[in-house]
Amino acid sequence: MRSQAIAPPPTALSIDANRLYDALDALGRVGAYDDPYTGLRGVCRLALTAADGAGRAHVVAEMRSAGLAVSVDRIGNVFARRPGREDDLAPVMIGSHIDSVATAGRFDGCLGVLGGLEVVRTLNDAGYATKRPIVVAFFTEEEGARFGTDMLGSAVATGRIGLADAYAMRDATGLSVRDELAAIGFLGERDERLEPPHAYLECHVEQGPVLRASGLDLGVVTGVQAICWHEVTIVGKAAHAGTTPMSLRADAGVAAARINLKLRDMVSSGRFGAELRATMGAIAPHPNLVNVVPGRVVCTVDVRNPDDAILERAEAEIVAHYGEVARLEGVTITHRRTARTPFVPFSSRVRERIAAAAKARGLSSAPIVSGAGHDAQELSRLCPAGMIFVPGEHDGISHNPRELSTEAQCRDGVNVLLDTLLSLADE
Ligand code: GLV
Ligand code: MN
Ligand code: MN
Repeated sequence: MRSQAIAPPPTALSIDANRLYDALDALGRVGAYDDPYTGLRGVCRLALTAADGAGRAHVVAEMRSAGLAVSVDRIGNVFARRPGREDDLAPVMIGSHIDSVATAGRFDGCLGVLGGLEVVRTLNDAGYATKRPIVVAFFTEEEGARFGTDMLGSAVATGRIGLADAYAMRDATGLSVRDELAAIGFLGERDERLEPPHAYLECHVEQGPVLRASGLDLGVVTGVQAICWHEVTIVGKAAHAGTTPMSLRADAGVAAARINLKLRDMVSSGRFGAELRATMGAIAPHPNLVNVVPGRVVCTVDVRNPDDAILERAEAEIVAHYGEVARLEGVTITHRRTARTPFVPFSSRVRERIAAAAKARGLSSAPIVSGAGHDAQELSRLCPAGMIFVPGEHDGISHNPRELSTEAQCRDGVNVLLDTLLSLADE
């Protein structure tokens, strides 16, 4: 930071879009892979893998080069602090995540973290010290793609999940969160329970088609829909595919297919309204061979709805269906609920600030509900929180190497992040 001077009127500030996009590019090279299905370079930084460790080291170095003081808590969340003029006041936090699904693009989560860093660099360049401190944070295993529970780090920081429970979570190969944090050097010492910030802001790609299709510059996120995840284990009887009469089979693969089709039927029946989303994203049969009846399948169910009561009803129907399938197919079915979060509304005060900031910059915006889970929903347990959504090209595709928000789209989102931050950090 250059100085503590009270400098130009904050409205005169704008971020350096080129620098932001370069930073997204540079982080996107960490954990990059050649995706055979899209022919594009994708990103694979599953939480707490060596690639995530490298991404973390890269971002920490960037945080330090922006003059920030970095600390790591006991669940591996990283906090980078810029002092305020009244440094004892609660900080305004900007955050998101840099872990990814195995087939990601460069924007999911990274825009929020690197956008926060760009805001800090912009303030540094202007020599402007906010009244409150600013903290740029990234949280561990937001995706849930490795250890099975999404928003893990921010849920621990805000008390929804206990540290011991988080440490004990294991990936598909049996490696634990605690050991993997230690292995990449991010088992920090800072207390995992976060002191409430003054406010929390997150700028994120929409990860859906709505904003781009409606020609809007930005979305002001009203809240995050309710989410429910199950890990389902189906045990039947492995058998020879050619010799075993159909009447003697207990085919775990067929049982998984029945559950998957049930999810689709529940959506298309309309009985749960128009907003139900239901997905079987992972299906792992054993032994996964052409000529063996699968004796075992581990699969996942992801169900979401903005209305908690509807989601509850849908989950109950799915669980009842597991029982029916078990009976029909002669298999046993057990399930573990690996994630369940209610609809989380965001602070109306923060939403108003975001909408006003967009308007002042001549950007069009509209309220939007988030279909994806985000760290902001966890932080909203501690303080007023809000999110800015940036449109995405290609129908807003995400969790895919085709994920793309243009430099101008990212610029608009992060400029509004800057303005909103200033309005909160100077109060
Ligand atoms: C996180 O990306 C989610 O699955 O919503
Ligand atoms: Mn994300
Ligand atoms: Mn994601």
